[in-house]
Amino acid sequence: NWTMDDFIEMQVAEIKAEVGDKKVILGLSGGVDSSVTATLLHKAIGDQLTAIFVDHGMLRKDEGDQVMQALNKDLGVNIIRVNAQKRFLNKLKGVTEPEKKRKIIGREFIEVFNEEAQKLQDVDFLAQGTLYTDVIESGTNTAQTIKSHHNVGGLPEDMHFKLIEPLRKLFKDEVRVLGEKLGIPHDLVWRQPFPGPGLGIRVIGEVTEDKLKIVRESDAILRDEIKKAGLQEDIWQYFTVLPGIRSVGVMGDGRTYDYTIGIRAVTSIDGMTADFAHIPWDVLSKISTRIIDECDHVNRVVYDVTSKPPATIEWE
Ligand code: XMP
Repeated sequence: NWTMDDFIEMQVAEIKAEVGDKKVILGLSGGVDSSVTATLLHKAIGDQLTAIFVDHGMLRKDEGDQVMQALNKDLGVNIIRVNAQKRFLNKLKGVTEPEKKRKIIGREFIEVFNEEAQKLQDVDFLAQGTLYTDVIESGTNTAQTIKSHHNVGGLPEDMHFKLIEPLRKLFKDEVRVLGEKLGIPHDLVWRQPFPGPGLGIRVIGEVTEDKLKIVRESDAILRDEIKKAGLQEDIWQYFTVLPGIRSVGVMGDGRTYDYTIGIRAVTSIDGMTADFAHIPWDVLSKISTRIIDECDHVNRVVYDVTSKPPATIEWE
């Protein structure tokens, strides 16, 4: 019958004993699990930890800066941020198939991480934000892969680190409570789920910088309006997608031929099944108007009214 304070105390002691005066690296994705792991390790061993933040350029608006502010500036975690958007976009050029995109993003992430890790000397340990559910899932045979999930920390094979996984007995909700206890802001630790490949799988088809910008801006508007309407606790996940089709519209007395933005918002317990959220019309109307007004090259907004199954939550 332990409390979170006991847990922190125990983990800090354990990590200190195991690491001694050696060095630890960690791949930071911007997500909750790796952020909490980094903060916990920092509490135990301070600057013996170096976190490598691979920013693939497909995070939500301002997300990378928020993570740097909270973890690096405010909490003092030693972080190397690698702005790798160009690299990822180059690798994704001409690629339209969802599974290929996922694999490329996952592989490139490890590649960038490896390159940075090799620049550091005398590192003995690699820390990962593995959760209890990850431990269980990797021990079972899933009949069929619907989507290959990308998470931080497929252990680089040619590197021989000892693994540290301090969250491996925790569930997601416990990780969030732990994160708050460690001083990470509430809004950061209670963020809605966000896939490893990020906005890269919300731009349908080929990913380009221009399309990423549209999906990032429209997503920020959606989140802002959901928050203003006080709905962020009721809806499990909400985001925009850019299907890449264009349609005819009219602006003033001119014809437009521009992109459509899709809004996806679902209620769910665990992401395995989901229902589309019943967002009030007036809120949808506000979101639609703002997206058209504030995002260049968008002339139509549609709402996804499909549950899971038969659709998945993400479009790719
Ligand atoms: P789908 O689209 O399969 O998504 O219904 C179910 C949940 O998983 C999230 N998701 C991911 N999470 N890495 C992750 O960590 C991934 O590659 C990934 N792909 C999807 C999705 O956002 C939803 O919450």
